[in-house]
Amino acid sequence: MNILLTGGAGLIGMAARETLAGAGHAVTAVDITDFGRGDTMLRIIGLDDRDALDALIQAKNIDAVVHCGAISGPMMARGEPLKIVSVNIDRTALLLDLARIHRMKRFVFCSSISVYGDAGPITINEETQLHPTSVYGASKVAGEQLVEGFASEYGLDGVSLRIGRVYGPYRRANCFLNDIIRNAEARKRTTIPCDPDFIYHYVHVDDVAGAIAAVLAAPAFPRRSYNVGAGEALTMPQIADVAADAIAGADIELVPGADDVPDVQTDFDTGRIGRDLGWRPRLPLAAGLRAYRDAILAGRSA
Ligand SMILES: NC(=O)c1ccc[n+]([C@@H]2O[C@H](COP(=O)([O-])OP(=O)(O)OC[C@H]3O[C@@H](n4cnc5c(N)ncnc54)[C@H](O)[C@@H]3O)[C@@H](O)[C@H]2O)c1
Repeated sequence: MNILLTGGAGLIGMAARETLAGAGHAVTAVDITDFGRGDTMLRIIGLDDRDALDALIQAKNIDAVVHCGAISGPMMARGEPLKIVSVNIDRTALLLDLARIHRMKRFVFCSSISVYGDAGPITINEETQLHPTSVYGASKVAGEQLVEGFASEYGLDGVSLRIGRVYGPYRRANCFLNDIIRNAEARKRTTIPCDPDFIYHYVHVDDVAGAIAAVLAAPAFPRRSYNVGAGEALTMPQIADVAADAIAGADIELVPGADDVPDVQTDFDTGRIGRDLGWRPRLPLAAGLRAYRDAILAGRSA
């Protein structure tokens, strides 16, 4: 397929470019910045530049969009809720409209586990009610609803991926796993404030890119939304144990505190995408951490 990939300089975008090109797709990546990397393969275009996107879609004969461009978490625009609304909702609508006008075959929307909000001690599957606890989470619910609306009204074949907490090369937002790896290299201790019972649903970015490739390859989707994760529900003490085994020199101290996104999400069922589309995660946390460390040491970082 000829794919337009937004957010091409971001965490998921960088990995998806590589994975999708490896799967034989022609990928045209756009972003508002290359973060000073001198990335000559990236087109610098803002998501609000309809004319430039339209011209690019025509020039490259684009037949699918992978939409990773966004304000990618509440922490990326604290105190600026309308920026989140404008980038995550309005720009998603604009891209869906371009996909409609150009009669594209597929639209993949990066949604988030945040759509479920503070779900509590239940198993979260794709039928679970959406209860976002942030404007960011609400913007992802709205994006998903737009994907649904364009599908039912205009026949645009879109799918939303409700992605867990992503780690890997080119992550810019705060990440304890990044801290553990970098501090281990520097022979420094990593202090992590946490509630020892709080559960994290980490997923390596290469697995997210694999899930995107799987939905693009599927002949059809039985559903319009899928949970994407590593299938591991781990507390910070468990994560610290895995990291201490996987990363030589890791020295981790846990102190009382709370997470940035304190939604209680006990059990995140990610089996549906495997049953429907045959995609399964490949990188449990230990392997993902080693891959992340190798990438950082090779200079692949934000
Ligand atoms: N990182 C996570 O843990 C996570 C979890 C669930 C869902 N997601 C979603 O996945 C998608 C990709 O996230 P990511 O982790 O790669 O985030 P990221 O912040 O690394 O990448 C997002 C990219 O979007 C670009 N962007 C932002 N505003 C733009 C604009 N106005 N015009 C053009 N480009 C713009 C940024 O420059 C950035 O490179 C987002 O929709 C995010 O909400 C991320």
